[in-house]
Amino acid sequence: MKTAGTLGLATAAGFPLTTGSAAALEVDEPAQWTESDVDQIELTDDNTAPVVDHEPDQISEDRLVWDTWPLRNRDGSMAQFNGWQIIFSLTADPGRPEIDTPGDRHNWARISYFYSRDGKSWQEGGLVFEDEDWYGNQQWAGMAIYDEEEDQIYHFYTASEEIDPERFPRIQQEPPGQRLALAKGQTVDAGPNGVELVGENDHHIIGEADGEMYETVHQSSGIIFAFRDPWYFQHPETGEDLLLFEGNTPTPGYDDPNHPKNFNGNIGAMRATNDDLTEWELLPPVLESVGVNQQLERPHFVFQGGNWYLFTITHEFTYAPGLSGPEALHGWVSDSMYGDYEPLNESSLVVANPTEAPLQAYSWDTMQHGSNAVAQSFLNWQGVESDAELDQMSDQELMDAFGGTLAPSLQINLDGDETRIVTEKADGYVPPSTGRGGGQGRQQ
Ligand code: FRU
Repeated sequence: MKTAGTLGLATAAGFPLTTGSAAALEVDEPAQWTESDVDQIELTDDNTAPVVDHEPDQISEDRLVWDTWPLRNRDGSMAQFNGWQIIFSLTADPGRPEIDTPGDRHNWARISYFYSRDGKSWQEGGLVFEDEDWYGNQQWAGMAIYDEEEDQIYHFYTASEEIDPERFPRIQQEPPGQRLALAKGQTVDAGPNGVELVGENDHHIIGEADGEMYETVHQSSGIIFAFRDPWYFQHPETGEDLLLFEGNTPTPGYDDPNHPKNFNGNIGAMRATNDDLTEWELLPPVLESVGVNQQLERPHFVFQGGNWYLFTITHEFTYAPGLSGPEALHGWVSDSMYGDYEPLNESSLVVANPTEAPLQAYSWDTMQHGSNAVAQSFLNWQGVESDAELDQMSDQELMDAFGGTLAPSLQINLDGDETRIVTEKADGYVPPSTGRGGGQGRQQ
């Protein structure tokens, strides 16, 4: 197993090196996202995305595209293969008879890959798991790293099981609705004309809700359930292999889904207990939002200047009764993983959709880029003013309004506990130098 020291990354990200047998993560109580933080939420020029005013290209010829993540090296920097970068997206075939509306896409989600030489003109490679051995019956969000020494990709993904809408949210089935999975074994064949993922994957379940720190689907009484969206990183000081994910904190005894206690989102964590990354132990959440928000989706870190920037995305409809916020990217900053997280910009709001187009984009994935960050997202609902309006639309109107491709990325300045949207970048832009240490990746 490589460590932060062998990767030479820690100094570049401004962290002291403490690798060695004595060094280990200090685990502590979760930080809290509070009602008073939410009360501070206010759209400003610094946190409001520009209205998308052009017709973006569809990066897939025939599939809807949403949550997206790049292939990174173990140290978090962008992997490159003969000058190619790779991204992975959740995709679904809208031609399937079961897909009447864009909402149905989640039930048919598969991970596709795309490659590019400039980080913005993406060519479609195909589905990642051609085999039938993957866990679950829907592939939900994750992240992927390439280990250069082992010449293999580690695909972290959510093994999601079918959800019966009649019975939702109490899903009466085994196994549970969402588990964290790892597929390893594939590698990259990068030639002058393109990229292909080659080789067989071995799939492993690496995380399940324990019912104590993380609510199981059977315990859930909430409006929705979460145990998903694994995001791998190496501890920048100790080199330990860690994962963040989206969970819910158990709050038994409240049957009403709209009871504030059922708005119980958290950002969970796990630590690998073997070098193969096939065995993991659950750690306490790093952040909780009980009574505040039900979903803290796709959590991830950006490491910069010795700071841990913790980001997550959330929807308008998942705030607890009496609280409100936009479709947005939120963030907190701390000097350690279980530290005193300060909400960025006092409220935690980092990127909100503009009031004129409140549902235009979603699922921001933030990546370090020099002294800035770049947040990549997908185009969600175009020309729709509210969730209530969506409820009134016909299936065809919903299909027409759904973007289903990559949105313009946003460059964001990170300055201590303040952030500022600096500029809009190209649709789907992922910077080649993303990540700690600005790693060069693999040249073949
Ligand atoms: C965010 C999200 C993820 C999930 C995926 C399912 O857009 O809800 O949390 O993995 O979509 O499609």
